[in-house]
Amino acid sequence: MLNENIYCGCVTEKLLDQTIEINGWIRKIRKMGAITFLDIADRYGIVQVILKNNYHFELTRESVVNIKGKVVLRKNPNKDLATGKIEIVATNITLLSKAKVTPFVVDDNFVAFEDVLLKHRYLDLRRSVVQKKIIFRSKFIHALSNYLIEKDFIHIETPILAKPTPEGARDYLVPTRNGKNMFYALPQSPQIFKQLLMVAGFLKYFQIAKCFRDEDLRADRQPEFTQLDIEMSFIDEDKIMSIVEDLLKTTLKKTMGIALNTPFMRMKYEQAMNFYGSDKPDLRYDLKLVDLTSFFQNSDFNAIKKNIAEKQVIKGFFVNDIIITNSNFEQINKYGIDKGLPSFYFTFKNKKCLFNPLGKKIEKKNLENICQKFNFENGSLIISYGPLEEVNEALGACRIKVNDLYKIANDNNLCFVWIIDWPLFEYNKQEKTFVAAHHPFTSPAKESLATFTTDKVNAKARAYDLVLNGYEIGGGSIRITDFDIQQRMFEAINLTPKQIQAKFGYLLDAFKYGVPPHGGIALGLDRLIMLLTKSSSIKEIIAFPKNSHGIDLMLNAPSQTDPKNLDDLFVKIK
Ligand code: AMO
Repeated sequence: MLNENIYCGCVTEKLLDQTIEINGWIRKIRKMGAITFLDIADRYGIVQVILKNNYHFELTRESVVNIKGKVVLRKNPNKDLATGKIEIVATNITLLSKAKVTPFVVDDNFVAFEDVLLKHRYLDLRRSVVQKKIIFRSKFIHALSNYLIEKDFIHIETPILAKPTPEGARDYLVPTRNGKNMFYALPQSPQIFKQLLMVAGFLKYFQIAKCFRDEDLRADRQPEFTQLDIEMSFIDEDKIMSIVEDLLKTTLKKTMGIALNTPFMRMKYEQAMNFYGSDKPDLRYDLKLVDLTSFFQNSDFNAIKKNIAEKQVIKGFFVNDIIITNSNFEQINKYGIDKGLPSFYFTFKNKKCLFNPLGKKIEKKNLENICQKFNFENGSLIISYGPLEEVNEALGACRIKVNDLYKIANDNNLCFVWIIDWPLFEYNKQEKTFVAAHHPFTSPAKESLATFTTDKVNAKARAYDLVLNGYEIGGGSIRITDFDIQQRMFEAINLTPKQIQAKFGYLLDAFKYGVPPHGGIALGLDRLIMLLTKSSSIKEIIAFPKNSHGIDLMLNAPSQTDPKNLDDLFVKIK
């Protein structure tokens, strides 16, 4: 019979009066005369052990020990611990591994610099708050996989050494000994493979897939991250969205006891931009952008006059019951300016303007009319003016900063929303060219099929993103499955026939041999788990993350390599 270990956090009064054996790390040491109290910890929790000076080595925190002893009732129970009613009176303690003084105290309440924590991530991971998140991640991914397997999806692993997959980032390249100037690319996603699996007839595929993207890092981005990748044949947008809703509903219930309301809200891309200034709106709070242009038609303020003459817009949003302070507004405004435009703020009490930084340039009456029309009573109004897209983006950024500063959103809410009706292309101002807004395998909407190459500005895509609390946690689309449309799409993003053949010839070939209509989605698991565990960065829920410069401080990677390796790979350092 399997003789299971007894773990520290599982020693309860059920084992009273038994002599047991446990193993663990010495988390705390308290000496009281002839008696020493130890907290012995493992991932299940902590148990108190009493030593009556029956040990013959130096006790240090974080050393690993084996203890034999009897379980007895505590005189003073600790209600906060699952093991708080009992303690173990040790008859024997063996030192399995001695720990030297750790670079930081392994304790949930102890704070250390991120660099120190990442350099010794194995110690950071020993802390129970950190460990709990990694354990939740394991259970959550297991529940997602279980759901899909029960629905008869097939888990298929796709290559890591591959060819570039265009997802908008730079590739990580891997040189090889097989030839000069020959590189593999690490996949930015398994996009093309999963489509080829549909061509191969698997019908329903999923993968917990590692993806690699060389792009500027943020709190919600890592150079390597994990997607739940899904692809299905003979489906449409509605079926994919409803399976994802049911998947999340079932797994959140199972792992967190949370009851989600489905279906999730759907919002057109254009509405998201117009009302929230973002394609990933945080809907836990309102702060909706409204068009105020009509209130300023007769303004004498030169900048606004010019704005109106140029058919630009004035928009704003009202922050109910909050009188924004000047210093906070500076931070809010900086966010807007980073997106390209400054904004202004005004405050109101009982619909009367209290503060107007533009003085006579903007008439109080105009502002008070706005309050009347929109029924704003007390609070602050933030406005910006200029071209519609820039105003939306600037105010969208201000909206987020207002919530950061004034904590308007309820942290316990999970606001899922599908963003639909995406543009097919995005204009890249630097390169002065159109690029695929999602990826070039996304099918144009039916109404754009005839015109997407000639009218790129208005071309729409059969794409959908899933957004949670202001984060894009997933994206997908119905794919192009027609040779000619795919060819036209590649041409529309300025690929020459030679480039098309070299980069995607194998996909176009596959399109000649019977392709089912198909589509799919990828959920960014790190972001989703970050939000579910209320973490502030995806680093917290990845076992061994890179820092914000893409460096693994523990491994000291990336690092230099032996010149001999470079020779073998035909690589010369510039
Ligand atoms: P997309 O590029 O939208 O779609 O990626 C899917 C999801 O992956 C997450 N994500 C990231 N998470 C952490 N760090 C990153 N650097 C990072 N980049 C993306 C996001 C995102 O929504 N092939 C398509 C999917 C499809 O069409 O089926 C794709 O990869 O949460």
